[in-house]
Amino acid sequence: MSLPLLQLALDHTDMDAALQTAQLLHQDVDIIEAGTILCFSAGIEAITRLRSQHPTKTLVADFKVADAGATLADMAFSAGANWMTVICAAPLATFATALDVAKRYEGDIQIELFGHWTLEDARQWRNLGLTQAIYHRGRDAQASGQQWSQHDLNAMQELSDMGFALSVTGGITPAELPQFRNIDVKAFIAGRALSDSPNGLDTASQFHQAIANIWGK
Ligand code: 5RP
Repeated sequence: MSLPLLQLALDHTDMDAALQTAQLLHQDVDIIEAGTILCFSAGIEAITRLRSQHPTKTLVADFKVADAGATLADMAFSAGANWMTVICAAPLATFATALDVAKRYEGDIQIELFGHWTLEDARQWRNLGLTQAIYHRGRDAQASGQQWSQHDLNAMQELSDMGFALSVTGGITPAELPQFRNIDVKAFIAGRALSDSPNGLDTASQFHQAIANIWGK
């Protein structure tokens, strides 16, 4: 297993605050994400301004697209995104059209796994050529007490066995990482743990330390 990457999710409601956080942490994270909340708040500028501030960083447009895959993918990739998320509830046609556009820009589509989906869905996504999935514990589910379970870990393993590169997100902190030690994680996506920390640089360093301790052996 290679070492999981660290992805910074910017879920600010204020664009300038998001840019400040990105400026502070960009050297300490591998991937920057314009989070869904920021995209709602700032629109496509969330992508253009982050791209202009960080010209070479992998940038994710977390649009959680449910329809109009080609149009929204064209907006995301022409603004500078490398990857765009499509929600697992979207029809296969939305995945297919979004992926076509992504390939034209040499980008990629990530399946955002929330709520209900099945392994048969996953097989169909793989057949379409999708290779990235994000295993997500939603912030509302987390706030209502949902913990990571053995069911989650088993599902992650099955997705990994199918050939998906798997990112994991949803209230992730450095202390939570050991429970994923047997999973081949491509990236941990952290939002509030980094952005709301009194010292985000220290928190980023704790993430890297935990990753090295667990996956570096
Ligand atoms: C919410 C998201 C978030 O960007 C993601 O879950 C990371 O944020 P946090 O670490 O604060 O939960 O996609 O839908």
